[in-house]
Amino acid sequence: MTVNINRQWLLKSRPIGLTKETDFQMVETIIPELRKGEFLIRNIYLSLDPTNRGWMNPVKTYVPPVKIGSVMRGIGVGIVEKSENPKFPVESIVTGLLGWQDYFISDGSGWMSAIPSLPNVPLPAFLNLFGMIGLTAYFGLMDIGKPQSGETLVVSAAAGAVGSLVGQIGKIKGCRVIGIAGTDEKCSWLTQDLRFDAAINYKTESVFTRMKELCPEGIDIYFANVGGKILDAALGNLNLNARVIVCGLISQYNATDTVPGPSNFPNIVLKRATVKGFIVTDYFKRMNEAFKDFQTWYVSGKLQYREEIVKGLENTPKTFNKLFDGSNRGKLIIKVSEEPIL
Ligand SMILES: NC(=O)c1ccc[n+]([C@@H]2O[C@H](COP(=O)([O-])OP(=O)(O)OC[C@H]3O[C@@H](n4cnc5c(N)ncnc54)[C@H](OP(=O)(O)O)[C@@H]3O)[C@@H](O)[C@H]2O)c1
Repeated sequence: MTVNINRQWLLKSRPIGLTKETDFQMVETIIPELRKGEFLIRNIYLSLDPTNRGWMNPVKTYVPPVKIGSVMRGIGVGIVEKSENPKFPVESIVTGLLGWQDYFISDGSGWMSAIPSLPNVPLPAFLNLFGMIGLTAYFGLMDIGKPQSGETLVVSAAAGAVGSLVGQIGKIKGCRVIGIAGTDEKCSWLTQDLRFDAAINYKTESVFTRMKELCPEGIDIYFANVGGKILDAALGNLNLNARVIVCGLISQYNATDTVPGPSNFPNIVLKRATVKGFIVTDYFKRMNEAFKDFQTWYVSGKLQYREEIVKGLENTPKTFNKLFDGSNRGKLIIKVSEEPIL
């Protein structure tokens, strides 16, 4: 029997603060016949990312907002099940903006590519180390941070998908690495399993004071994933010629009021610091540089990652807030359907 029903999560209303399940609506639609040049992808893994929250707001960011009544946008990995496009034949494994749904019809335009065949790399890794997450960590740190052996690197949301890779790449480059995370378990994972030099639990310790103790010469590279008070504490502890990589500001993504700017901003002048933001898509053309290093480091056991895979498309909206309450253990992924046996 051919399945021709597509379950889709539509954005029903603009969330205020944290998303609620009622901001979304699940509908079932009939999958239309393919036109010339199109192919049908079955979604296997769906990535949940903090940036998805920004896409729900009524403002253009680096992409247009998701329209009310449209399928919620999301990055996925899937398999081509039917094809009228010779570039994407049946059984191709692809990645792109597949959306919060079971199936996606593509014509190959936009963000859509076939996944390279990498031996011993599991499929979810293409949403993690060998996907947007890995590229973010690699190019943010290497291109903007320019780490030198012996320098002190501090990273926030350090036990998360991006942060945990940033710290490990920093160690590979010979930096002293300090991570900031929200639980003792996460801090132990950083220091014991990932060999970070120290970790700060921002929920139980004074971040500013601990940074001062742990970085007596100041921070050479600060990889900012969080914003708010944690960013401010880092700006107040910079070394001369520090680089501040502004990757994300997760503490502000659900803000309902204007967020005050950091009070330690003047230190950027005093320490002649460079502050630079970036979006990972800026680096897509250079992805092979990162993947070459990742393959070497991954195979030799120098890079580890963890991921939390939640089964079932129906659980997507309620799982999304794990990114904001910190209960995700590594890269947060929804398993939409079973992996193919090829
Ligand atoms: N610039 C780019 O192109 C790009 C690309 C990808 C990701 N990013 C950014 O990278 C950052 C990390 O993303 P990710 O995908 O790797 O997610 P993640 O770190 O795996 O998950 C998010 C983590 O952020 C922490 N967090 C949430 N709310 C917080 C708050 N109010 N204060 C402090 N920490 C908080 C939580 O950890 P704790 O338990 O430690 O609180 C949570 O586990 C985000 O800011 C994201 O927007 C940027």
